Amino acid sequence: MARKKIALVGAGQIGGTLALVLAQKQLGDVVLIDIVEGVPQGKALDIMEGRLPISTSTVLAGSNNFDDIKGSDVVIVTAGVPRKPGMTRDDLLTVNYDIVKVVGEAIKKTAPNAFVIVVTNPLDAMVYAMQKVTGLPPERVVGMAGVLDSSRLACFVAMELGVAADDVQATVLGGHGPTMVSLYNFVSVGGIPLPQLMSKEKFNELSVRTAEAGTEIVNLLKTGSAYYSPAVCSVRMAEAYLLDKKSVLTCAALLKGQYGFNDLYCGVPVVIGAGGVEKIIEISMTDEEKAAFAKSAGAVKELIDWVDAKMKG
Ligand code: LAC
Repeated sequence: MARKKIALVGAGQIGGTLALVLAQKQLGDVVLIDIVEGVPQGKALDIMEGRLPISTSTVLAGSNNFDDIKGSDVVIVTAGVPRKPGMTRDDLLTVNYDIVKVVGEAIKKTAPNAFVIVVTNPLDAMVYAMQKVTGLPPERVVGMAGVLDSSRLACFVAMELGVAADDVQATVLGGHGPTMVSLYNFVSVGGIPLPQLMSKEKFNELSVRTAEAGTEIVNLLKTGSAYYSPAVCSVRMAEAYLLDKKSVLTCAALLKGQYGFNDLYCGVPVVIGAGGVEKIIEISMTDEEKAAFAKSAGAVKELIDWVDAKMKG
């Protein structure tokens, strides 16, 4: 079987971490692409030289040419400017839109059969722009945020209860921003529903921390945003696609009537397999959660309207 090809567009902190983790998992050969000369080449060579101790035969290359996306099975887009302290993700809209547009045109031309995972912020608007620019079927253009937001909530629940992080499952829906919605009844701890283990008040505290978790990291790092956890969450999505796992993950997917929204990308539970987003799962929420989700989708809609206006010129 031919090796798969994975293009990483953006060789910054997330791109470099992605390359290392993908090499460790041997999911496919990797090309790291960035406009900064030397950085993608240097990171690729650095990981190549460390393959013996991690027992991998993955081949990595660096490039400054977007045409090297050509023939990729998966493209993960992290290119763009990250936040600095004091900035919201929405502050990145105009500058990152221009970058996503260039990358999207390259994907359309060179890798129209790829599964495209967008990580660039503001996430929901950028993945929407990517789908519109590439014209790819929406099931093959998806945003990474819900996997991260859910992983963060699961982490905080595990820390609070003093249990293993990988025994906690959580679901965080909505836009990837301060309005994201953490669902109390959808957290399970080794199969035990969270309401049997934690009060709603305590959960609400963790849900507030989850919504601000990206900002918490930005304020600590001061020079950029989180990268280890965004990278591993993106790998989880790529793996679900490449291995046809039918994984149930929360991702930014294009809603076409689901949850009462149309032509809007927003974080919802989906099934990812060889067909990309094979299914959007509609779950039933409390009235309070439904209202919070609608508010979050409304915040995303404002940014998407900006993208639409920009694309119409
Ligand atoms: C965060 C960035 C990646 O949430 O959006 O950390």
